[in-house]
Amino acid sequence: MKVLGIETSCDETAASVVDGEAVLSSIVSSQEVHGKYGGIVPELAAREQLTAIRPVVRAALAEAGVEIAAIEGLAVTSGPGLAGSLAVGVAFAKSLALASGKPLVGVNHLEGHLFSVFIERPDFPMPAVVLIASGGHTALFSVAEKGKAVLLGQTVDDAAGEAFDKGARLLGLPYPGGPSIQKAAEKGNPKAVEFPRPMLKAENLEFSFAGLKTALAVFLQKHPEAAKERRADLAAAYQEAIVETLVEKSLSAAERVGARTVAVAGGVAANRRLRELLSLRAERKGLSVQIPALPYCTDNAAMIAFTGAFYLQLGKVSGPELEATPNLPLFSFAGV
Ligand code: KG4
Ligand code: ZN
Repeated sequence: MKVLGIETSCDETAASVVDGEAVLSSIVSSQEVHGKYGGIVPELAAREQLTAIRPVVRAALAEAGVEIAAIEGLAVTSGPGLAGSLAVGVAFAKSLALASGKPLVGVNHLEGHLFSVFIERPDFPMPAVVLIASGGHTALFSVAEKGKAVLLGQTVDDAAGEAFDKGARLLGLPYPGGPSIQKAAEKGNPKAVEFPRPMLKAENLEFSFAGLKTALAVFLQKHPEAAKERRADLAAAYQEAIVETLVEKSLSAAERVGARTVAVAGGVAANRRLRELLSLRAERKGLSVQIPALPYCTDNAAMIAFTGAFYLQLGKVSGPELEATPNLPLFSFAGV
């Protein structure tokens, strides 16, 4: 089934055409404008979505070599995300569906991330534990099969990506923080400073990253020169604390539910140290590791088209009442 997916939940405008298991195109246009503000400015994000949406959708169709007439269904992110950004994608997809007479389904952005672990590798051993670690969410799921997820635990305060972004800001590194901390950490010693591993000893599968950010802030108050002089060490130690917490929690979740695979999705899954440490420790426990290719970790529309195709095939279609829902909850997933 050929599905066109559209994703505009935050500061990326993305469109993709998938056909069954194959990704025919995946175009992502990232907004540069927020860099100088050190974070996303919602009004600017919505405005940029408006200018990018048409060319990005056209480019996705052109690269796939598919006319809109040959598309069998449409999928669009309906939430969670920024109200203005989401509204652009939803309105565009609704008009396209109406004009072309194709069925449209609204997709939960987080379920899109969850499905991204199946892109290009649909056959890893099940059941799996899937960690979603993005800018807005950090949550662990037990997944018995595609579309059937049980929430095991999530963060009680900041998300892992948010911890990277806030840490980067404290260290004077540019936004987005994940890639810039990763880069700064390359020349650093992760053992130079001992940062807390939040909730690692706790029995539950919840996360908490606010204390880690505070620990970095307190360290920098005591050693103000360190943000510059010891930036690489601080970045490496801070990254190690986040990564080790994510890895260990995911492995205890896998043990608890008897999973055969441990998977990670979302922007933070692009982190090189996370990919390395998870592979190392999971393989020691005899677990398979599944992490999407880099372009499917950060926000993209292939994951939305993929999820949409799954639901369209089950006959799920959203009517004209589909709306952008900025606070769409996790339990709008099937099975959660
Ligand atoms: O999934 P995503 O693109 O958007 C959301 O749904 O939030 O995730 C964005 C987050 C940002 O916080 C960014 O700093 C983080 O993912 N990120 C990374 C890396 N690349 C992006 N974090 C750590 N290492 C990276 N290489
Ligand atoms: Zn995302």
